[in-house]
Amino acid sequence: MRENICKRKHLQEKTSARENICEARLKMSGILTKMARASGSLGNAFGRSALGRRSFASAASKSGRTPYYDYLRTSGTLRNDNVFGRNHNVLFTVFGRRDFASAAAAATQMQSFKVFRYNPEANDKPKMVEYKIDLAECGPMILDAVLKIKDEIDSSLTLRRSCREGICGSCSMNINGSNGLACLEYIEPSKNPIVIQPLPHTYVIKDLVPDLTNFYSQYKSIEPWLKRKQEKTDPDVEYPQTVAERALLDGLYECILCACCSTACPSYWWNPEYYYGPAVLQQAYRWVVDSRDQYTEERLAFLNDTMRLYRCHGIMNCTACCPKGLDPAKSIVELKKFIETGYKPEWETLHAKEMKENITRAPGLSYA
Ligand code: SF4
Ligand code: SF4
Ligand code: FES
Repeated sequence: MRENICKRKHLQEKTSARENICEARLKMSGILTKMARASGSLGNAFGRSALGRRSFASAASKSGRTPYYDYLRTSGTLRNDNVFGRNHNVLFTVFGRRDFASAAAAATQMQSFKVFRYNPEANDKPKMVEYKIDLAECGPMILDAVLKIKDEIDSSLTLRRSCREGICGSCSMNINGSNGLACLEYIEPSKNPIVIQPLPHTYVIKDLVPDLTNFYSQYKSIEPWLKRKQEKTDPDVEYPQTVAERALLDGLYECILCACCSTACPSYWWNPEYYYGPAVLQQAYRWVVDSRDQYTEERLAFLNDTMRLYRCHGIMNCTACCPKGLDPAKSIVELKKFIETGYKPEWETLHAKEMKENITRAPGLSYA
């Protein structure tokens, strides 16, 4: 009898302990579910993995990179792009080594990339070469994939890049038919290969490196610096601007000269030597509206040219592809308005003078 009472008591204690555990689990699961909802699929995987390891593995294999992963990266928790590489310690801490190892093993996600290859030193035609990489071992951006191909598969692949955060403008390329910065474009997993080519309608130096000599010469030709007729007497004093005057430069100064817009412009494709293209015209406009600059008329007279400015037909490809969200097409419209409203017959002489003085400003047939 006594033994039965003891057993019952023991059973009751066990049941209540189990209930406590269940309650704690429920609470935990509630927290994790909230976390999962807030943070997307990997968050979801984290949540479920506390209740079952396999769910993490399958979710991780499906996602590769997720908003939660992005959160970890941007919050500084993960410092490297490779979630299954050097930063695995964070995940080890959460799941334990074996859980993570099995998750990583199951997370393979192969993606094919077709990359334009051309080596002028080899006696070979340009061609598209297909590479397969495991997205689970790669960072989330197109640039990560291209660098992984270069680092691990073919070191002869050539590309430009520097900042890997959309600042330097050097990694511009054509990704699945659209111009953009490889470091800002996410890899969208697909059963079709992701096609990567150099900026369109450019001469190619090698692989993904376009020749931008003409583009930069045109930029130089608009004299993208402050020009004054009255120099300040004290070199330590700035040229002041009102808040409104300064605001006119917003949406213009942010341009990183990546050439995505110009090389997406059909007018620029057909007349790259003559037409200045959206990027250069936007920068020309940037100096025209700068209240400190005193060469506005000369600048406008220089731009008032059938080919340099008026090849723009408002197709808007430029604005659609700018990775910095700028609107070069609008700048061109504004430039045309400035010229229309401010035009004076004297500009003819001014234009001739500018042309004569600037004969060496830019290459191209317009200077022949
Ligand atoms: S306007 Fe945009 S796309 Fe064009 S060069 Fe500047 S940043 Fe690049
Ligand atoms: S709006 Fe003008 S500059 Fe922009 S893509 Fe069209 S033609 Fe080119
Ligand atoms: S690497 Fe600098 S903008 Fe992409």
